[in-house]
Amino acid sequence: MDKKINELLQLRQEALSGGGFKRMSARRAQGRMNARERVDMLLDAGSFEEFDMLKTHRCQNFGMDTRQYPGDGVVTGFGTIDGRLVFVFSQDATVLGGSLSETFAEKICKVMDMAASAGAPLIGLNDSGGARIQEGIESLAGYAEIFERNVRLSGVVPQLSGIFGPCAGGAVYSPALTDIIMMVRHNSYMFLTGPKVVKAVTYEDITTEELGGADVHTSISGVAHLAYDSEAEIINGLRRVLSYLPQNNLESPPWQNNEDSTEREVLELGQVLPPSVNQPYDMLKVVIPCMDKQSWMELQPDYAPNIITGFARLGGASVGIVANQPQHLAGVLDSDSACKAARFVRMCDAFNIPLLTFVDVPGFMPGRQQEHQGVIRHGAKLLYAYAEATVPKITLIVRKAYGGAYCVMSSKHLRGDVNYAWPSAEIAVMGAKGAAEILYGREAAATDDPQEFLKIKEQEYQDQFANPFVAAQRGYVDDVILPERTRFRLCRALGMLGDKRSERPTRKHGNMPL
Ligand code: HXC
Repeated sequence: MDKKINELLQLRQEALSGGGFKRMSARRAQGRMNARERVDMLLDAGSFEEFDMLKTHRCQNFGMDTRQYPGDGVVTGFGTIDGRLVFVFSQDATVLGGSLSETFAEKICKVMDMAASAGAPLIGLNDSGGARIQEGIESLAGYAEIFERNVRLSGVVPQLSGIFGPCAGGAVYSPALTDIIMMVRHNSYMFLTGPKVVKAVTYEDITTEELGGADVHTSISGVAHLAYDSEAEIINGLRRVLSYLPQNNLESPPWQNNEDSTEREVLELGQVLPPSVNQPYDMLKVVIPCMDKQSWMELQPDYAPNIITGFARLGGASVGIVANQPQHLAGVLDSDSACKAARFVRMCDAFNIPLLTFVDVPGFMPGRQQEHQGVIRHGAKLLYAYAEATVPKITLIVRKAYGGAYCVMSSKHLRGDVNYAWPSAEIAVMGAKGAAEILYGREAAATDDPQEFLKIKEQEYQDQFANPFVAAQRGYVDDVILPERTRFRLCRALGMLGDKRSERPTRKHGNMPL
C-alpha cells in the first residue's frame, strides 16, 4: 500500500510540474501564471476538484512515446465561483506548447459533458498552439469533438473563454463558439496560425501582436469582448461576468441585493442632452445613473463604439443593455454595430436576461462602403435578434429614432413589452433636413431662394414629427416619461414583466441572415 501511495504521490508531483521547471520559470518570467495557478485564482479557495490528473497521450509518432506528461497539458475539473458550481479547463503551455492531443481533447470533452448534465457554466482558460502536430488526425478529431460540444452547449450553459497566451487553430475556434472571450494585453494572441506559418505561406512579415493581439481583437475584428492588462484582472473579469449569468438556460440570473432604491430620482438626467439635436453626448451618462450603483459592466467597449452593449443590475436583477452612442458616428447603425448588438441580444435571450434598449439613432449608415459590406444582411441580424427575443424587452427613446433604425431598436412592433420615450424623443422616417430636401427639392429649385424655402419646410417637418406625441397617440410608445423618473419607471416595468410568458411557433430553427 505504501508503495502504491508513494507511486501516486510521485505521479501527482510529475503532473504538478507540467512541462518542467525550466519551462515554468521561463513563462513566469514573461509575467504568466501557470495553468494551475490560474484555476486556483479563478475558483473559490479550496473548491477545485481535479479530474484525469494522471491521464497521458497514446501517440507513438516522432518519438512522442518518450515525451509523456501526466495530465497531458490540460488541467480539468470543477469548483465554485461565489459558491456557484462551474466546470473548468486550463491549458498548460509548458507541456508541448499546450497543444491538443486526442487525450487532451477527451479530458476537455469530459468536463463539457459534465457541465451539460449538471447545468453549470464552463470556463476555458486557453493557452495552446492548437492541434498537436505530431498526432495529426487524432488531434483534429479531438477538436471537432470539442466544437460539436461547444455548439451543443451554446445557449444551454454559459461558456466563457479566457485567452492567456499565443492561441492558434482549434484553440481559437473553440473560444469563438463561446459566449464571452477575454484577453490579456501584450501576452495573449488569437490567430488561425502564427507568424511563422504566415511568413511561409504568404511571405508576409507580421508580429504576433499585429496579427492577433488583444487590441486587434477587441477593437478591429470584434472577436474578443474585453482586454485586460494582467492575468489577475482577466480572472476577476471572468468571475464578474459570471455574476450576471444564470447557471443554465432553465434558470434566472442570480439576483443581488443592494442598497440602491428603485425609487431613486436621477435629477442629472434632465441635463444630459445638449441644446441642439445635432450635438453629440455620452449615452453612458444616461444609462449608468439609471442602473444600480456600481453594477455596470460594458462588453466590447472599443469595437463598434457607436453601439453600447453591457450588463447591469436594476433593482438587483441582471439586465442586458443595448444603447446607441451619439458620441461615435452620431450613434448610427452600421454593419459592425448591428452584428455586435445582435449577438449580445441573442446571448441575453438565451440566458433569460431582460433587455433594456436606449435609443438615439439617426438611422443606418448610408453609402457604398456599408452597402458593399452587406449592411442590409448585417442590419437584418439585429432586426431578427430583437424580433426573436422573448425575454422582457423595455425600450426608452431618448432622442432620435429615425427610419428603419426606429423599427430595429426594440420597437413596439417587434414585440417590445414596454416602450417609453422622453419628451425630447423624435420619431420620424428621417431627419428634417433630409426629408425637406427629398419632399421639396424640386419646388425649392423653382423659388428665388431655395435655401430659405427648404429651411421653412425643414422647420415644418421638425415641428410635426420631432416629438414623441404622435407615437404616443398611436400607442407605439406606452408613455412619455420624465427623465428624472426613468430609473423608477424602468424598475417598475421590469418588475411587472418578471413572469412574462411568450410563445414561439414550433420549428427546428429560424434562418437568421448570417
Ligand atoms: C505541437 C507545439 C505546437 C503544436 C507549439 N508547440 N505549437 N507542439 N503542436 N501545435 C510547441 C513547440 O514545438 C515548442 O516546443 C513549444 O510548443 C513552444 O512553441 P514556440 O513556437 O517556441 O513558442 P512561441 O514562440 O511562443 O509561439 C507559439 C505559437 C507557435 C505562435 C503558438 O508555436 C505556433 O505557431 N505553433 C503552431 C500553431 C499552429 O499552426 N497550430 C496548428 C493549428 S491547426 P519545445 O519542445 O521547443 O518547447 C489546428 C486545427 C484545428 O489547430 C481545426 C481548426 C478548425
